[in-house]
Amino acid sequence: MQPLCYTGHFKIWPNWLLILVIRHLTTYIEVILGALGYFYRRKSYICQLATCFNDLLGYCTKDFAVLLYPGYSSNLKHLPVFHRLATLTPSPMPQNIIETKHVSKRYVMGHEVVDALKDITITIAKGEYVAFMGPSGSGKSTLMNIVGALDSPTTGQYILNGNDVSNMSENDLAEVRNKEIGFVFQTFNLLPRNTALDNVALPLIYAGYSKSERNERAMQVLKDVGLENRALHRPNELSGGQRQRVAIARALVNHPSIILADEPTGNLDTKTSYDIMALFDVLSQKGNTIIMVTHEEDIARYARRIVRLRDGLVESDTPNEPRKPLVELNAILAAKGEATQ
Ligand SMILES: Nc1ncnc2c1ncn2[C@@H]1O[C@H](COP(=O)(O)OP(=O)(O)O)[C@@H](O)[C@H]1O
Ligand SMILES: [Mg+2]
Repeated sequence: MQPLCYTGHFKIWPNWLLILVIRHLTTYIEVILGALGYFYRRKSYICQLATCFNDLLGYCTKDFAVLLYPGYSSNLKHLPVFHRLATLTPSPMPQNIIETKHVSKRYVMGHEVVDALKDITITIAKGEYVAFMGPSGSGKSTLMNIVGALDSPTTGQYILNGNDVSNMSENDLAEVRNKEIGFVFQTFNLLPRNTALDNVALPLIYAGYSKSERNERAMQVLKDVGLENRALHRPNELSGGQRQRVAIARALVNHPSIILADEPTGNLDTKTSYDIMALFDVLSQKGNTIIMVTHEEDIARYARRIVRLRDGLVESDTPNEPRKPLVELNAILAAKGEATQ
């Protein structure tokens, strides 16, 4: 067989063909990776992979070309396509799920002007468990509404999971809410005539899932919160704690970026509150991002960070060594002589 390479002279036959193949091969890979990086632009690992390939193949092509045909290197213009696509590729996946920059909210009612939020700049990273605290009127609900994309700030910027939602239309906000946020309310807000399963499956209707998919996913989440054997019960056949568990399951069913809980234990007795806090603890350890509004010092101390508001400003923002809800729950049950877990 005719040897391809004549070492010593750096002469290969047919060198022009090899160079052509290598150049084109790398360009095709670049195009595919560039397109992947563009379409899945939030997935930073694809961008990184593409960049690595770009560097690697860039060097390979260059080295090969120099080796095969020394006079060629100065003409080598490799991989222009990826570079063009890469300029369209935004920055990698943000670590901060929530970023408010100098957010203010002003309510005007006739002649009365209320500055509910004055200048709020906070960031919350993926996986954090934060409590918003503060006296009545300090702006907790207003901040929750903005963070939950229920309302827009008067001035300032709000970036939710990498998207600037400060000036979005009502429709766009509704879509962002459905996709990114799971709400848990003090009053549970369950549909009274529907079963637990249907209540949990509700957000999936708006997300466009088929009925069998909805039921399957809803059942799985009910299982996660320990209520699979109550799936066909209506809210009035459930205890307060169980209703809140159903509401939490509904908040989780869409795999949201954040769970926003507004006074989640406000309507529950102490034991059931511990129970719900124990569930939040598990959810937090599984990596969910949780923001909880509460005016109860007792409840806030389960979170890993406490942000205190006063008069529309952040008064303090401190990490917290969280209490252990399961330990406390068991202590109460033991004192009552009930079975412990
Ligand atoms: N929709 C509204 N219209 C007018 N004023 C409002 C509205 N919502 C809240 N406020 C006012 O904004 C301030 C902050 O309210 P809010 O965020 O509900 O506080 P918190 O939840 O901490 O009790 C209060 O003075 C309240 O009266
Ligand atoms: Mg409030």
